[in-house]
Amino acid sequence: MKPKFFFLGLFWLGLVSFGVWRLMGSVGIHANQERQVMAAEKDSKVAVQEFMGSMKARLQAAMKEGGPANAFSVCSEVAQEMTQTYAEEKGWYLRRTALRLRNPLNAPDNYERGWMERAAAGSTAETPISTYTKAVTNEEYVREYHLMKPLYLEAACLVCHGTPEQIPDVVEGLLAEKYPNDAAIGFKEGDFRGILSIRIPLPDEELPKN
Ligand code: HEC
Repeated sequence: MKPKFFFLGLFWLGLVSFGVWRLMGSVGIHANQERQVMAAEKDSKVAVQEFMGSMKARLQAAMKEGGPANAFSVCSEVAQEMTQTYAEEKGWYLRRTALRLRNPLNAPDNYERGWMERAAAGSTAETPISTYTKAVTNEEYVREYHLMKPLYLEAACLVCHGTPEQIPDVVEGLLAEKYPNDAAIGFKEGDFRGILSIRIPLPDEELPKN
């Protein structure tokens, strides 16, 4: 074989191998990303259950023990504890937010507000909207898994979020004292109350190791 053909062959072989290598790499990255999203999907479901479960259990226990005045701080405590624990232990963003707010610190960002206004606001417990989930690249170019679960008002919430007639005087007093700009009363059972919002970082994809 003439050296010219030999080197030409070698060149093409190199080019094709490089192409195949890149292709395998991108297939690997894709599979990796999918695995990350599936793991985040599973983790976020567990977090939702944990949040809903502890909120209900702690509210019920506090009500039984000392009535609405005793339960008053539970609604905020459970949420704030979970926000903190998840941020510290896992590096996740997990919190509650709403359109009609009691605590201004719970105000939604544009993304949360947009989804609530567009999709969730008119829904009720009888005509619920499904939980929103999506893997996205956020404004800082970081990939994240997002979950927004609508929360509907239950009978147990009325003592603190219902009509003025349903709210006992002791709670009314606490509300006036602690939340002078409270907009989170006047709800009926089944009304859309707000969301549980979770964001799980999806680490930068690495080339798969063989
Ligand atoms: C015993 C009183 C009480 C009960 C019962 C109660 N909440 Fe609350 N809720 C509060 C208080 C107080 C806050 C303000 C929390 C804070 O300062 O972060 C709050 C805040 C919230 C928020 C956060 C948004 C905002 O407005 O600041 C949501 C969402 C919420 N409650 C939903 C519910 C739901 C759903 C139930 C029933 C399962 C419920 N609450 C039962 C007292 C209560």
